[in-house]
Amino acid sequence: MISQKQLKGPDVFARTFAADEKSLSAIAARLEARAKHCFFQQVVDEYVNALELRGHESILDLGCGTGAIARMIASRDNCSGRITAIDISPYLVQTGKRLALEEGLADKIDFLTGDAHSILELQGQFDVLIMHTLVSHVVDPATVLQEARRLLHPEGKIVIFDGDFDSLTYATDAPDGGAETDRLQAIAGHTQGRVMRAMPRLLSDQGFSLEWSKAYVAADIGRADFWSSTLPALRILLPSAGVMSEREAGDYVDKLESSSLSNTFFASCNFYTMIARGMHVG
Ligand SMILES: C[S@@+](CC[C@H](N)C(=O)[O-])C[C@H]1O[C@@H](n2cnc3c(N)ncnc32)[C@H](O)[C@@H]1O
Repeated sequence: MISQKQLKGPDVFARTFAADEKSLSAIAARLEARAKHCFFQQVVDEYVNALELRGHESILDLGCGTGAIARMIASRDNCSGRITAIDISPYLVQTGKRLALEEGLADKIDFLTGDAHSILELQGQFDVLIMHTLVSHVVDPATVLQEARRLLHPEGKIVIFDGDFDSLTYATDAPDGGAETDRLQAIAGHTQGRVMRAMPRLLSDQGFSLEWSKAYVAADIGRADFWSSTLPALRILLPSAGVMSEREAGDYVDKLESSSLSNTFFASCNFYTMIARGMHVG
């Protein structure tokens, strides 16, 4: 049976089941900060609107992290159904529970720990399953989609939002323009850098019919904005992934931060949302 523990690469967001507390705390801070950014708020608004919810749907947020997306959806007026939020990291699940309690949403969200490759205790009870930047971190996206199909009602809907992380770039003044540091960031922060390009085919292979999609570019030009909350996390996560020493990561981030102060920062990545419905069989 495939499991996340078979992971070979250093992706820190994929190793949250075994990461140290310093790394997990940096991950939690980054997830919370980006969820509050207007770009992510717009993305979630757009896919929730595209789902045309009637209000009572049961929703699964798979790879929920601190539950930022589950909480965003639970606080919407048109979402009165139960939300289940699952992540492989007990630390992030605990953080999610605490934040849901603090925000008065604890009675709307059930948090569980589990591996998206096999959630054996659940079956076929969800109307909607959301993977908000999960698939770029899993060992085997096809198995995770197969599992999603099993967890959904036969004609339930899946929402996949993720980065096309092979397009992620932070420009630097190095002779290669940042190509090598981009490569190191790619392996330290993602496992499936091109998975969204394969997603229409992967969805079809698992019996889903693609219904809606939207493309985004998160580009900060001059000042760091969306990407600014990544910078403090990189100081901790690049050494924790073993791709840079603390000093190298510090120098790298210092330069990125000073380029933002001098209005010469450039970082960009493509993101996509895809919504698909289970195809009726038989
Ligand atoms: C980039 S974070 C996204 C978290 C959350 N969806 C958000 O957008 O705020 C990726 C999350 O996937 C989780 N994760 C990675 N592999 C997983 C797996 N096989 N099963 C469940 N969760 C997993 C990590 O623990 C991490 O919380």
